[in-house]
Amino acid sequence: MAQHPDVRVDLQRMEFTGQARGKFEGKAVFVWGGLPGETLTARVSKRQRRSLSCVAGEIHVPSPHRIPPCEDHYLTCSPWQILSEEQELIFKASLVTDLFAQRFKLELPQFQVASGQSFAYRNKLEFSFTEGTDGLSLAFFQRESHRRKIELDGCLLGSDAINRAARFVRDVLRANQVAAGQLKSLVLRSNQAGHVAAALYVTEAIAPVCDRIADNPIIRGMRVFFSNPLSPASIASELLEETGDSVLEEQVLSRRFRYSDRSFFQVNIPMYEQAILAIRQFVADSELVYDLYAGVGTIGICCEGRHTVFIESDEDSARFLRENCERNGVQADIAMMPAEKAFDAIPRDACVILDPPRAGIHPRVLKRLMASPPQRLIYMSCNPQTQGQDLSILQTAYRLVHFSAFNFFPRTPRVETLAVLDRIADASASRKEATDGHG
Ligand SMILES: C[S@@+](CC[C@H](N)C(=O)[O-])C[C@H]1O[C@@H](n2cnc3c(N)ncnc32)[C@H](O)[C@@H]1O
Repeated sequence: MAQHPDVRVDLQRMEFTGQARGKFEGKAVFVWGGLPGETLTARVSKRQRRSLSCVAGEIHVPSPHRIPPCEDHYLTCSPWQILSEEQELIFKASLVTDLFAQRFKLELPQFQVASGQSFAYRNKLEFSFTEGTDGLSLAFFQRESHRRKIELDGCLLGSDAINRAARFVRDVLRANQVAAGQLKSLVLRSNQAGHVAAALYVTEAIAPVCDRIADNPIIRGMRVFFSNPLSPASIASELLEETGDSVLEEQVLSRRFRYSDRSFFQVNIPMYEQAILAIRQFVADSELVYDLYAGVGTIGICCEGRHTVFIESDEDSARFLRENCERNGVQADIAMMPAEKAFDAIPRDACVILDPPRAGIHPRVLKRLMASPPQRLIYMSCNPQTQGQDLSILQTAYRLVHFSAFNFFPRTPRVETLAVLDRIADASASRKEATDGHG
């Protein structure tokens, strides 16, 4: 892979991104597949002025926490397959704690990372394709090299239904003599009942496949989309073919939800349920609940107050959000618009659930929350870096009353975190006095 000479390096610590870090000739060395305390040969994939990006080669001194990976392609999907599960949780808790303390000067209470099963947890996988040893093959893009692909037969992170469906679609495409160059990706989603919805993204016309897919008992629906070959993203520009129903139904904490192959839905349902149970304790008997960044409404519906206001910008998700409120008999106002445009102020007695995308809370939303702080904020995040940044802004009006983490993405460096903030009475009172004084 590397054009640069290998380096021998001692690794000192784990980085938030999931690489282990060492030093070589004054440069920082970041190694995928390495662990702190190890000495190894690192294959250099990218050389920059102050750093080297690498992939682990021969391990000379292994870490006591190292275990054999379960898959050849583990670096692409879950680089922490080489780490004991116990140590994975320790790393996650300490990386979040250090990040908050060092970068945002926020001291977190001690917390543990709640965890569940470490494989077969994903209800969504996106495969690419390559020409493999037996013809058309499923593939993932290789880490540290976006053009190279690794041939595979499935992925242990995905549910059994997803893997079986992926192989079935691959075999249909093979039989139709479709080439990898005509395909962009196959996105598969499954529910806990073992049903699958499939979306195939193609970059040029292929022979029809849907009549063969209709024979498969687990694939409930499939859509074939044309997608712009110049963009790497699986974005549909035209529906070419479809069969069955691409809407899945899922049960979360005994409520039933419907969502389509295009709506946002969390990937690890048992862990998500644990997180929602924690959120529910803090919503308690709130009369008025706001669910910002609501998706198809799962959190707000499972934690409903006497009245709930949902805000979601994506049209497809908002459509299912409305349907899910009706099916679950939830009294709701729904605003299909960006959160930053949806309100000037939220009533002071409201409990606000925030579950933003990786970029965090929009600055305009933060500004409005600070200008007139509602009683309680419950902030769930898939990116502690932006959550820390947002909390450092919110801390002048709020105090942290709870912090916990959930292992939504086992065997990877990613972690979901939950922060609960209560308005500081004095802070809001003094702000009000200041405003009244200017009135
Ligand atoms: C991390 S997901 C959370 C969804 C939901 N809370 C759940 O648990 O399934 C973030 C959601 O925010 C939506 N979103 C992204 N930007 C937004 C914005 N500016 N305003 C409102 N919603 C937004 C996305 O469409 C997505 O549904």
